Amino acid sequence: MASKGHIVVVGAGVTGLTSACFLGEAGYDVTVVAAHVPGDSSIEYTSPWAGAHWRTHATPEEPMLCDWDVQTFDYWLDVMEREKQDPKLPKSGLKMYDSLHYWDAPVKEELWWAPRVKNFRALSSLQEPLLTISKRIPAHAPAIKEAAACRAMSVNVPQYLLYLQEKARSMGAKVIKARLPVGSGLEDALTAAESHAMVDGGRRPDCFVNATGLGAAKLCGDEAMYPIRGQTVLVKGEAEAIRTRIGDGYTAYCIPRPGAGMTILGGTKEVGNWSEAVDPETTARILQNCSYIVPELLTGEDGGFEVVSAQCGLRPARQDGPRMEKEVVGGRKTVHAYGHAGAGYQNSIGSARLVVKMVGESIGSSIVSAKL
Ligand SMILES: Cc1cc2nc3c(=O)[nH]c(=O)nc-3n(C[C@H](O)[C@H](O)[C@H](O)COP(=O)(O)OP(=O)(O)OC[C@H]3O[C@@H](n4cnc5c(N)ncnc54)[C@H](O)[C@@H]3O)c2cc1C
Ligand SMILES: *[C@@H]1O[C@H](CO)[C@@H](O)[C@H](O)[C@H]1NC(C)=O
Ligand SMILES: *[C@@H]1O[C@H](CO)[C@@H](O)[C@H](O)[C@H]1NC(C)=O
Ligand SMILES: *[C@@H]1O[C@H](CO)[C@@H](O)[C@H](O)[C@H]1NC(C)=O
Repeated sequence: MASKGHIVVVGAGVTGLTSACFLGEAGYDVTVVAAHVPGDSSIEYTSPWAGAHWRTHATPEEPMLCDWDVQTFDYWLDVMEREKQDPKLPKSGLKMYDSLHYWDAPVKEELWWAPRVKNFRALSSLQEPLLTISKRIPAHAPAIKEAAACRAMSVNVPQYLLYLQEKARSMGAKVIKARLPVGSGLEDALTAAESHAMVDGGRRPDCFVNATGLGAAKLCGDEAMYPIRGQTVLVKGEAEAIRTRIGDGYTAYCIPRPGAGMTILGGTKEVGNWSEAVDPETTARILQNCSYIVPELLTGEDGGFEVVSAQCGLRPARQDGPRMEKEVVGGRKTVHAYGHAGAGYQNSIGSARLVVKMVGESIGSSIVSAKL
């Protein structure tokens, strides 16, 4: 098939790599240019720090985000089904678990997603696992008032990023590790991206995709961007289920990492904090709060968790939600796709499909104007 054009995707997080795969599938030549690629570890690269699991944060007032999350859920089901049918396929690192939801107060959020996930059901406080958990929570701490369960997926994040990169490459994409200049404007950044993409005879790019996450704040000074810091603790053992406990001003969660024999416990949501320093007191409180809801991993000699590491990531948040927009900068066509906050994984499929649509519109419009 003749190429429909050369697209340069800036960014190799879950947003950029998923977009690269879908652009490759749609028949474009793709070059990914990114300062950090799968396997790298940096506070400037959010994707490796995620849990990650599917649990939507979207509300009915955000129909596009609801739709993205549902698209991802259905697509991931399909990926897992195909892997089951054909053991020779590369492993994505996705797996279904029971996902248990606990609320310290009567549920206020609208559970619009209940019919969209698998096997949603309310749990009574007289039933397991709540009976046991309630006994573990000390009298002075808040109690759990409501609970529900469903089936949802967890993502082995390091594996999934490598899987996406390999998938993009298998469709012909090139991945180039390079940092674009920041502070001298978008046009300079795109000029640099273009020269990277044209090394080794690559043709002049027809369109750029800006999937730089929190980098967009520095790259082009998007002042609507801000971090939501999340501290987590990686512990030994693969938890039996995903758990999310929503309390007054805090969240406690447990995300098993499929096939890794490890689990992510969390965590914080600190708006506006850029620090990558791990706070030991926060680590202790995460472990304490998770000890009630993840009893099967209390395998340490002291009766606690076996801690592997503690770390922080910065969710790339943006006022008014992700920026999905076409722009022409110094004659270069660009599609922005950044600002996915705490939902970049569960958003990824819907977001990538929209990127493909906008790239098509962007390139198509140039053909029209060239004819005029
Ligand atoms: C603790 C924690 C838990 C989370 N849990 C979940 C979860 O359960 N489910 C979920 O869906 N999401 C979760 N998230 C959110 C998710 O991790 C993010 O939404 C997602 O990783 C954002 O991906 P991204 O590709 O947009 O950005 P990033 O992963 O940050 O990628 C940005 C890319 O742009 C590149 N870049 C930036 N600036 C430049 C430059 N100047 N030159 C070249 N390249 C540049 C970077 O090198 C990188 O490759 C969690 C996040 C955290 C921190
Ligand atoms: C991405 O968008 C941000 C915000 O507009 C801008 O500062 C940055 O230069 C863009 N980067 C690329 C590579 O397009
Ligand atoms: C950010 O988090 C760090 C580590 O927990 C903490 O020491 C610091 O005070 C926080 N900064 C702000 C501005 O809240
Ligand atoms: C732990 O739970 C308590 C409520 O019992 C809450 O106040 C606190 O913020 C939680 N800590 C963390 C780090 O989530």
